[in-house]
Formats: sequence, C-alpha cells, structure tokens
Amino acid sequence: MSKIKIKNFQAPRGTYDILPEEQPWWEKIRKTVKELSGDYGFSKIDTPIFEDMELFARSAGASSDLVEKEMYSFRTRGGDQLALRPEGTAGVIRAYLENGMVDLPHPVKLFYFGPMFRYERPQAGRYRQHHQFGFEVIGGDEPVLDAQVIQLFLHISRQVGLKKLSVHINSIGCPECRPGYRRALVDYYRSKKQKICPDCQRRLKENPLRLLDCKEEKCQPIKAGAPLTLDYLCPACHGHFKSVLEFLDELEVPYFLNHQLVRGLDYYTKTVFEVFFESEGQPPLALGGGGRYDGLVKNLGGRPTPAVGFGAGIERIISLMKEQGVKVPVKPAPKIFLVELGELGQRKSLKLFEELHKEGIIVAESLNKSNIKSQLKIADRIGVKFALILGQQEALEGTVIIRDMQSRVQETVPLAKVAGELKKRLAKK
Ligand code: HAM
Repeated sequence: MSKIKIKNFQAPRGTYDILPEEQPWWEKIRKTVKELSGDYGFSKIDTPIFEDMELFARSAGASSDLVEKEMYSFRTRGGDQLALRPEGTAGVIRAYLENGMVDLPHPVKLFYFGPMFRYERPQAGRYRQHHQFGFEVIGGDEPVLDAQVIQLFLHISRQVGLKKLSVHINSIGCPECRPGYRRALVDYYRSKKQKICPDCQRRLKENPLRLLDCKEEKCQPIKAGAPLTLDYLCPACHGHFKSVLEFLDELEVPYFLNHQLVRGLDYYTKTVFEVFFESEGQPPLALGGGGRYDGLVKNLGGRPTPAVGFGAGIERIISLMKEQGVKVPVKPAPKIFLVELGELGQRKSLKLFEELHKEGIIVAESLNKSNIKSQLKIADRIGVKFALILGQQEALEGTVIIRDMQSRVQETVPLAKVAGELKKRLAKK
C-alpha cells in the first residue's frame, strides 16, 4: 500500500495567527479606538481589502516602494487588475468620492481598522499582513486639524498605556514649492553621485525625495548635509507649518523637527509626521505616521479638497505595550462548572446552561460524555467556586447538586431554585 504524504501547512511567510491569548491586547486597542473616535467626532468606515491596482499607483505613486516593490497584485478571472491594499487612505478617499460624501458637511471625519498587505522582507515589527487603525479628516486645510490628529494619535497611545513616545515632524511643501526643493536636492546629490549607494542612484533618477529615506551607512554623511525642505517652503506652506507647531505648543505636545522626514508615499503635502518609540541601543520603532494630502482627492477625480490623517501599526503598538509592561483586562474566569451525566442529564444541562445564561450566570461546561471524575478535575483546574452536578437521577427528580469545590459539601436543590441559590452563594464568596 502506498503511503500518502500529508503536507503540513503553515501560515504564509510574514503572516501569523492572532491566538485566543493574544486577543485581549487587540480588544484593548479596538475599544480605545472606538471610544476616542466617538469623542473626536469620527465615523467608522470599512473598505474592501482589495481595490483596483491603479488606485494605489495614482495615490501612493507608481515609483514608490509600496507600489513598485511591495504590492500584492493579481489579475482576476474576469481580467481586472487588482491589488491587496497596502495602506488605507487611498480606499477611504475612493469610498468618499464614490458614495457622495462630498455632499456631506465638511470636514468628513472617518476612521478604519483592518489588515494591510505589503510584500516586505519579514523581520521584527515588519509583516506581510499587518493591521492598522487610521483616521482621516477630509475637507479642511486649517493647521489646527494637523495638530489635532497628532494629539489624537498620542491620546490613543497614552490610553492603551504607552509611554515615552516622540513626535517627529516636518513640512515637505506643496506643488508650488516642492519642485524648487527637488531641484536643489538633485543638484546637491549629483555632485556626490559616486559616493552614494546603488539604491540612492536609482532614487536620484526616479524619486529624489526618497534619498532622505536611505538607511545605508555610507549615505548618512551625505544625507546630513542635504538641503532642508523648510528652507524652500513658499510663504503659504511656511505659515501653515508655523501654525501647526504653535498649536502643538499650545497642546504641550513635544516634537522633534526632523528635516529628513519625507514619508514613503507620494500623496503627502505640507505637514508630515511620524510617532516613534526610541530607546538606547535599538533602532527607533515607528508606531504610526501620517500627514496632509491636499492633492489626493483631486488626483483621484474629485474637487480640490485638502485632507490630513494618520495610520498606526497595531502589531508594533502591541509589542511596545508588552515591552512597557502594560496590563490588559483578561476575561474573568467562570466561577461555576456544570457537570452532566447520562443522556437525560445532558439534555437537562443544555437547557440549564441557557437558563443560567439568561440570569447572567456564566458557567463552564464540557458537554461531552466523560465521567464525573474527569469533569470535576476540569472544574478544579479552572478554579471554579461551585460545580453543578446533573445526572440521570437529578434529571428525573428535577433537581441539581451544588458542590462547594473548596469544602466539597454537596447539597441538592430544585432546578427552579438553582439560579437564586448560586447568586446567594457567589455573593458570599
Ligand atoms: P505608513 O507609515 O506606511 O502610513 O504606515 C503606518 C504604520 O503602519 C507604520 O508607522 C507602521 O507602524 C505600520 N506598518 C507599516 N508597514 C508595516 C509592516 N510591514 N508590518 C508592520 N507594521 C507596519 C500609511 O499607511 C498611511 N496610509 C498613513 C496615513 C493615513 N497618512 C494619512 N492618512
């Protein structure tokens, strides 16, 4: 007889399962995001996890790493070219335009929570499927909005228990002033072309702003001497950025002016920011980032509509919560275990479980055929205060045995009275 070899499946590289014991961390974040989104006037939106591939090319930029190297794209049987979303903003703006939200009072404030997909080299804090929550304020160009979304990010981070985060901020200008900066940057790098890494050689040709993203050792001194975006801002962008910083001062949010912060997506204009956790001897961990994207709505076919927002990486937030010793509420352990014996006992137990649930009493059980000893063993392991025993005889008599797990004293009570009895006894424990 030939042996059939059964394949052992594994989660695809860069993905992972969120196991039951991990869920309380996710729950904590979900709950905080939900609470604060309401307080700050945001409504939830869910968009599909795949979209027309062109949407991401038109928003994040065809030459961005996100689109060029990291996108999961595929052709459907019907011939459509789609991509798993690498980020959330483009889908939200597409939905805003498609669903007539342009007619709502502005700004339209939306938030989302869900998986994103990037074909990156998996490593600590970098996954191929990661999750983000994000907030977008569409239809407002006031600097106060930039400051408020940064404040909201910090508020959420604090509420989930994180400490010692730093805000890095910069302004990368607008279509008026950015070409001037780009020219200055290209001129500067051209004179040092022989000394930069091959990736930077490519960036210099395709996407010069990305030169400031380079992490290569040999490019660092060159990067440090590069022209600053702030020196090239037009008066409008300069004034806008100054106001954002003043609002942050007003909110007493400390920030670090990071001249090399440009972000990896092409839709940004004016303010860009990132929130990091920095600790000695470790590379900084970007928990989230965002900024203004005043040209995106128009670029995707809408009227000129300024907007600002951010996205936060949930896996990174959870890893930092753990590192910083944050405690999350765990589901309270049940205090009662239901032991059922025999077919009739099992039938009655099923009903009793539902009735107790209606009374707000949660019981653990193992509705299968194991004997009383093994069921009591489980009850012991869970650490319940009482066991309810419902066998053939009790089922016929319409009673149930309440067993105090500590003293082992047992008492038979009528089924109709069991809920009241349990409430009384639990109150005493
Ligand atoms: P992003 O900076 O590309 O921005 O991503 C936001 C956050 O998602 C990052 O700061 C990081 O914490 C997390 N993240 C990104 N890639 C990965 C990965 N491979 N594994 C784990 N975590 C990751 C955006 O996506 C913009 N849509 C944010 C935005 C919203 N800007 C304006 N509105």
